Amino acid sequence: RRRIIIDTDPGQDDAIAIMLALASPELDVLGLVSVAGNVPVRQTAANACKILELAGRRDIPVHAGCARPVRRDPVTAEHVHGQTGMDGPALPEPTLRPAAQHGVDFLIDTIRAHPDHTVTVVTLGPMTNLAMAVIKAPDIATRVERVVSMGGAYAECGNITPSAEFNMFADPDAADIVLRSRMPLTLVPLDVTHRFLVTAPRLDQLRALRGQCAGAAAEMLGFSGRFDLAKYGWDGAPLHDPCTIGWLLAPDLFTGREVNVAVEVASPLMQGATAVDWWHVTDRPRNALFLRDVDSDGLWSLLMDRLSRLP
Ligand code: BDR
Ligand code: CA
Repeated sequence: RRRIIIDTDPGQDDAIAIMLALASPELDVLGLVSVAGNVPVRQTAANACKILELAGRRDIPVHAGCARPVRRDPVTAEHVHGQTGMDGPALPEPTLRPAAQHGVDFLIDTIRAHPDHTVTVVTLGPMTNLAMAVIKAPDIATRVERVVSMGGAYAECGNITPSAEFNMFADPDAADIVLRSRMPLTLVPLDVTHRFLVTAPRLDQLRALRGQCAGAAAEMLGFSGRFDLAKYGWDGAPLHDPCTIGWLLAPDLFTGREVNVAVEVASPLMQGATAVDWWHVTDRPRNALFLRDVDSDGLWSLLMDRLSRLP
């Protein structure tokens, strides 16, 4: 079983990514770390607790991480995700509480506590915690098995500004630290997630599944989807974060290339834009497996199969 830590800012699509991981016997979820992103960190930690309670997994710890980006003011996205960040289902206030240890220290200690190259970190929000962890404990860069991150864009440009994807835009300095860290990295950008759409028939399929997790997932997507449908005018809303877990479970459903990826930290207009050297026109080192496409039907079937296994 592959050991993973999920660093997240739930987020309806984060919640479904977490559910997918919890439902998958191939993965051993060591803990959830929350970060300021879609909503402030106290709320993302509470949301992480809600998801674990819903899935009956109170045994997995939640650690609250950084409350703000490395060197900028927080950017939130309540206009997409609602006031709680996870609007849609009426979930009870969680009784599970975040653990006392800070999320950055949990990342460091957990990576160090296991044999080298046996812990993978999945980031579903701004990369603040992982960047801080690698600054505080540079040895984790050579110990971690891999980092798998939802973030960035090549041909799809941006979703929060014309030129940047939200997670990169919210903390480009953190992304810059991670991209230069030499940690093995898989990036799951908008180019992939904009091909994984929750169409009306797919949402009906999800609604037809039994179980409170699938039910909550359907209500979440019903909520966040409305905003995206109006924004894009497509026949479905993109489902971003589950693509990361999907890649861990079934990499053959994806295509991509080892390339250099750099992120813009200086220009206000281009803040968080990813410069992806797809054609290898620079001599910058390859620092990421940058995914470009996904077998959307295959990934959706996998997601349905797995969500149907949850309570
Ligand atoms: C990313 O931004 C967040 O709003 C989503 O949860 C996802 O992680 C997509 O740009
Ligand atoms: Ca997210």
